Amino acid sequence: MNVKQVVSSLAVFVGAVAIGCTTGKGPDETKTAITMSETKSKSEPHRPQFHFSPPSNWMNDPNGMVYHKGEYHLFYQHNPGGTTWGPMHWGHAVSKDMVSWEHLPIALYPDENGTIFSGSAVVDENNTSGLGSKENPAMVAIFTYHNEKLERAGRNDYQTQGLAFSLDNGRTWKKYDKNPFLKNPGIKDFRDPKVSWNEIAGQWVMTLAVLDHIEFYGSKNLIEWTKLSEFGKTSGAHGGVWECPDLFPLKVNGQEKWVLLVSINPGGPNKGSATQYFIGDFDGKNFKNDNSEQTTHWVDYGTDNYAGVTWANVPKSDGRRLFLGWMSNWLYANEVPTATWRSAMTVPRELRLQQTPAGIRLTNVPVKELQKLRMGTTAIKTQEVNGSLDLSNRYKLNSSLQELELNLDLSQAQEAVVRFSNDRGEHLDVGYSVSRKELYIDRTQAGRTSFKDNFSGRHTAPLELENGKLKLHLFLDVASVEVFANDGKTVMTDVFFPNEDFTRTELISTGKTQLQASKVYNLRSIWGDPS
Ligand code: FRU
Repeated sequence: MNVKQVVSSLAVFVGAVAIGCTTGKGPDETKTAITMSETKSKSEPHRPQFHFSPPSNWMNDPNGMVYHKGEYHLFYQHNPGGTTWGPMHWGHAVSKDMVSWEHLPIALYPDENGTIFSGSAVVDENNTSGLGSKENPAMVAIFTYHNEKLERAGRNDYQTQGLAFSLDNGRTWKKYDKNPFLKNPGIKDFRDPKVSWNEIAGQWVMTLAVLDHIEFYGSKNLIEWTKLSEFGKTSGAHGGVWECPDLFPLKVNGQEKWVLLVSINPGGPNKGSATQYFIGDFDGKNFKNDNSEQTTHWVDYGTDNYAGVTWANVPKSDGRRLFLGWMSNWLYANEVPTATWRSAMTVPRELRLQQTPAGIRLTNVPVKELQKLRMGTTAIKTQEVNGSLDLSNRYKLNSSLQELELNLDLSQAQEAVVRFSNDRGEHLDVGYSVSRKELYIDRTQAGRTSFKDNFSGRHTAPLELENGKLKLHLFLDVASVEVFANDGKTVMTDVFFPNEDFTRTELISTGKTQLQASKVYNLRSIWGDPS
């Protein structure tokens, strides 16, 4: 959310403060609300069935993602007082596999320092902070306080960094008594701390988004921080404010490179919010970008993957870098036509670095745990498609929850489209244009679009075929599609709102597409049976 939007949301915000913060709604009431709505969520229009969504009310960024004692924790920006953005709390859920989620009571409530904006969480294994012990290390959340009183007073220093800790696996939280631990130097946008232990420096490193650049801070104890360096004022995309960064190492070609994720709003490749990345080196103090200043790389070219960051503390024995983003866009997030809740997260993804002819790139692919959702496997034999192949009739791919792994040879085709449709003639197209070398998602005919002028659209991403071939891995979940092309080298995520679920799937080819051995799956819901 940029400054303008924060200001324009003020009316909603102030109203919601009155509802959310002064009723003193306690954890028990929240828990009851969660349990009640869980039972009906299977039948609500547009409710995602295998993506994480809040049981009720507003959600934006994923926060505090940390793995601890067999649980993936997911905190999230949450307004428990309504279905639009408002006074931010940290909602909370845990999962053993990133697929099924247990909703927990709200973890962090606003206090006299402000509402609780985005941030991260770590497990302080060596008790560097003294907040826990070696036997029972503290889970420490580091977040941004947004002080709306100071903002309304016209001050610039209303965003500061605060800390809270839990000694019982994130079930209950205490705020640090000397918050905020990092004051604001007079810059309005000063937020979204992502903290990790840095082996090279032998200290904690905080990556912070500051208006149009990143600042790195170092600390031995998570409490006292010293500024290390800045990066990015003249690098990458600058069409909007920088937010929600992440910094982590990944191996490629036997060497370690550092990846810096930076969300930007607006200024994304298909308008509005999106996440760019930089690849380079981090020596414990400075980030050095390998690319030229003008180059911009996008984690996802779709309109609906924002503020994504990675899980901290994933065991070395697992070794994956696990990512999740918010499946919406600030262009219309507050207006999407859902009734009792707003927005969902992307599926969890694994990030990797891959050498490509154009250079080293960050790829993202769905995590293997999602295979648990498959209800049987349907294998498709190699065949030629010229016109339409009805995958629903032919292969019983007839649910609004689908996964497709399609291998297409487009050497003799002009265009290939996967079309999801309903009996009302509404459809969502995922296509590839050979002449334009372009992957696209077209949601212009996909149902409800008039709730916001800028919602309807055809979104594109540059993509080269590999020896004439295109591998498409798709997930359809009622109101969203995620497209992983050529092993996650180009990725697109879009949401849409059909008036009736899409349960028909076709492959439509202009020219000859060779559909090579492929697999498709109907998927199951993660919600309990409706009562
Ligand atoms: C990103 C963002 C963050 C901020 C949070 C507020 O979507 O604007 O920068 O901390 O949302 O909810």
